[in-house]
Amino acid sequence: MKKKFLNLLNQPITNSYLKSIDKKNIKNEYFYNLSVTFNTKNFLVSLSKPVDPKKQYTDKYAHRASQSLTMQKAFSSVAKKLQNRFKPKLSMEIGSNDGVFLKNFDKKKIVAVEPCLNLARITQKLGYKTYPKFWNKSLANKILKNKKKYDLIYSANTISHIPNLKETFDSIYKTLSDEGVFVFEDPYMGSVLKMNSYDQFYDEHVHVFSLIAISNLLKESNLKVFDVDLLSTHGGSTRFYASKFNSKYKPSKKVKKLKSREIKQGLDKFLTYKKFAIRVKNSKKDLINLLKKLKAKGKKVISYGATYKSATIFNYCNIGSDLIEYVLDSTKNKQGKYTPGKHILIKPSQDSIPKDVDYAFLGAWNFLKEIKKKEIKFLKRGGKFITHVPKIKIISF
Ligand code: TMP
Repeated sequence: MKKKFLNLLNQPITNSYLKSIDKKNIKNEYFYNLSVTFNTKNFLVSLSKPVDPKKQYTDKYAHRASQSLTMQKAFSSVAKKLQNRFKPKLSMEIGSNDGVFLKNFDKKKIVAVEPCLNLARITQKLGYKTYPKFWNKSLANKILKNKKKYDLIYSANTISHIPNLKETFDSIYKTLSDEGVFVFEDPYMGSVLKMNSYDQFYDEHVHVFSLIAISNLLKESNLKVFDVDLLSTHGGSTRFYASKFNSKYKPSKKVKKLKSREIKQGLDKFLTYKKFAIRVKNSKKDLINLLKKLKAKGKKVISYGATYKSATIFNYCNIGSDLIEYVLDSTKNKQGKYTPGKHILIKPSQDSIPKDVDYAFLGAWNFLKEIKKKEIKFLKRGGKFITHVPKIKIISF
C-alpha cells in the first residue's frame, strides 16, 4: 500500500525555465501537486502522481551533465572503472544526456538512448549510435532485432525518472547478456533522510531509491543487486550493480552491510518518513525567517545555481525575487531566463560573485567544495553562503 507522508505543494516542471514573464507565459505555466508516498510492501519512495514524461523530456531540455567539472571527472572515472572491471564487448547507456559518460568509450562499442532530441543530436554528431527515444518495452524489442545483447548497461540519474519500473527492469533483463551487468546510479533515500534534502523531490525524481526497495523491485524482473557504491554525487547517491538472478555474481559484503544499515535507519518504516516530514516543515520555517531577517537588515541575497532542486525549495517556501534578487548559473541556455514557478531572473555567472552581494543561497549545495574553491574571493571579502542541509546555516570563510 502507498502511504503519503509529505506534501510539497504546487510545483512547476523544474526544467521549464521561462524566456519571459509576460502574462501569457505565466498563464500557461504547468503546475501539479508534489506529494511523496512510501510503499509499505516494497519500501519504495515515489511521487504520488508523476508528471507525463513527454512534458518533461522535450527538445528544449536544459540540463547539461558536463557543466560541472566535478561531474565530468566522476563520469570519466566510472567509465574507466566499469570497463576495467567487467571488460564489456558491447555496452549501452540509458539517458546519455550530452555524452559526458559515453565519450569515454569506443564509438563502435556503445549505443545510447536519449529521449531529449536536442541532447540526442549532440551524441549523434559525435558519432555515437543514439536512439532518440524513451527506454521502454518497445524500444528494447527494436534494439533486440539486431540480435545483439549487452554486457554492460549503464544509467545515471535516469532510472529514478521513469514511472514504470517493472517495464524498465523487464526490458533491461531482455537486453542484457547472461553474465551482463546493469549499473545504475541515482540519488539515495538514506542521504535524503540524513541531510534533510527534501529538494531531491521534484517532477523528474519520480522515485528515490534505497537498497532494500531496489532489491525487492529487481527480484520481480529476475534481477539481483550484487554490489553497491555509496557516492557523494548529487548530495548522496547509490550506484547499484545488478545482474540476472542466476548469473555468477554473489552479493558483496557492502550489499549486506548497507542492507542492515538501512534497517537500522528505519528505511522500511513509515514512521521514519513521517518524522522526516516534520523536519522539512521546520526547515521551511527557518529558511523563510532567515531570509526575511536579512532583507530587513538591507542585505543583498542571491542564489547560486539555477538547479531543479532549488525550484522545489523556492516554490514550497514561497520564495520569490522579493527575498532572492536573482540566481547565478553557468549554463548558457538557462541564462536570461526565469526560474519555474517563482520567476526569479537567472544571470550568467561571472569570474566571481558580484561585489554588492552579501549572501548567496546554495541552490547547488551538492557542489559546495567546487563552489567554495571558485568563490574564494567572495568568501574572503566577507560574503557568506546559506545552505539548508542538513539544517539552515550560514557558511563563511
Ligand atoms: P545539478 O545539481 O542538477 O547538476 O545542477 C547544477 C546547476 O548549478 C547547473 O545549472 C550548473 C550550476 N552551477 C553553477 O552555475 N556554478 C557552479 O560552480 C556549479 C558547480 C554549478
